[in-house]
Amino acid sequence: MSENNYSEDWMSTQNLYSKFDRIFDLMPELIFVLDEKGIIADYNRTAAQLIGRDDLTGKQMMSIVPEGRQPEFLSYLTSDGKRFDSQFLTGSAKALDVSVQIKQLESMERTFSVVIARDMTEQKQRDLDFLRFSNVIERTINPIQITDAHGLMIYMNPAFEKWSGYSKEELIGKNPKLLRSNKHSRQFWQHVWRTILGGKVWQGQVENRRKDGAPLHTELLISPIIDDEAEVVGFLGAHRDITEQKMLEQQLVQSQKMESIGTLAAGIAHEVGNPLTSISSLVQVIQRTTSDDFAKEKLELIKNQVGRISRTIRDLVDFSRPSTHTVRSTDVNQVVRDALNIVKYGKKVREITFHETMGENLPLLMIVPDQLTQVFINILINAVDALQGKPGSIWIQTALDTNNIEIAIRDSGTGISREDKEKIFDPFFTTKEIGKGSGLGLWVSYGIVKNFGGDILVESEPGTGSTFKVLLPLKGAQRG
Ligand SMILES: Nc1ncnc2c1ncn2[C@@H]1O[C@H](COP(=O)(O)OP(=O)(O)OP(=O)(O)O)[C@@H](O)[C@H]1O
Ligand SMILES: [Mg+2]
Repeated sequence: MSENNYSEDWMSTQNLYSKFDRIFDLMPELIFVLDEKGIIADYNRTAAQLIGRDDLTGKQMMSIVPEGRQPEFLSYLTSDGKRFDSQFLTGSAKALDVSVQIKQLESMERTFSVVIARDMTEQKQRDLDFLRFSNVIERTINPIQITDAHGLMIYMNPAFEKWSGYSKEELIGKNPKLLRSNKHSRQFWQHVWRTILGGKVWQGQVENRRKDGAPLHTELLISPIIDDEAEVVGFLGAHRDITEQKMLEQQLVQSQKMESIGTLAAGIAHEVGNPLTSISSLVQVIQRTTSDDFAKEKLELIKNQVGRISRTIRDLVDFSRPSTHTVRSTDVNQVVRDALNIVKYGKKVREITFHETMGENLPLLMIVPDQLTQVFINILINAVDALQGKPGSIWIQTALDTNNIEIAIRDSGTGISREDKEKIFDPFFTTKEIGKGSGLGLWVSYGIVKNFGGDILVESEPGTGSTFKVLLPLKGAQRG
């Protein structure tokens, strides 16, 4: 195309656009007017700015389209109005991402193509940001959920599913109340809602429940999601799991409680134990010397009651001074058998069937056998008591897992309510009638097992029965 020709074109487009010149330049899009041959007849200020050139008039449109993109661009050139993604070469080295729409304009018996292109750099950046963001959310170990403005869940990440025990399908469209533990008051949640509905971020510790009922402690941050019109359109909840930390805290409290009671017990044993010994020897002396049958009978009762007090104190002291016993290489199966033999002598066991499954080749453990016998006797007697004299079964199983010898004692008795379950290892906690239980059995047992570096776990369903699992760590074990 000659200079001359081009000037003619230029003149005609100038005529065509002069009226709209300013508007054309005000448009946020890049606009090019092309003649039938694809030559740029005019372009607006946005195009000049974003391309970084002001010498485009008379140049082929294709001269600013990267080669690889040209066939596609050309194919759209004659179609009307279909939007497509492309790129423009700029004055600098970087290509400009654009979304293009081409319109045909008939004027003065000529057809011009008007290329209207939107700069997509920001959108691309936003897409990329979103991709990064969603990747982080999908992969993070922190449970995250998003709700709509009504508080119904519309998104949760895989960590959330894993943590809550619920699947996406079970959660989408539900209120997060589903996970509530009822450990927080109504006022607590009202305050949370007031904060986030006011557009502010709420942060605090909450206790939730897993699908299986286990507690979940988290540090929760709820942030309202606000749109361009400052409307709250949803809420983002990000959790940090602190369940383990909470458990450790509780264990620490438990062990501190034990320690202080141990100290107390040693004091009581000293102050009460000595007078008790005198009382009991005096009782025996009088019993031997009196001929009054009534007195003899009552003295016998006193002797029994004094004996009970002494035993209680001995239990307490045993726990506060566990180091007096000697550690020996011990066959756990033998200890379990010993404990069973003792328990089976009791009166209440006639209706009970004992099922024993002893694991083979268990390694010997370096522990105090008498103390361990005590633990199994306590748990077995509790199991017997839980059957309340009715026919039933008790299962005893010993087995080896990777780190522990595990002794499970299961009964088909009354089971333990959820509230009680938190308290059964507390000293003096008993649900038995006065005189029947001191509430020290499990407390002492827990202390002994903890001293061995082990643990006692409880599973129980009211009405179905309970399983007590004693875990004894293998560290320092010898092959049996
Ligand atoms: N197998 C079980 N089934 C049902 N409840 C149990 C079982 N084991 C323990 N418990 C509950 O835990 C409580 C505490 O048990 P723990 O052995 O510490 O004390 P206790 O049996 O009441 O008294 P004792 O000091 O004589 O053992 C019991 O009173 C009972 O409520
Ligand atoms: Mg007991």
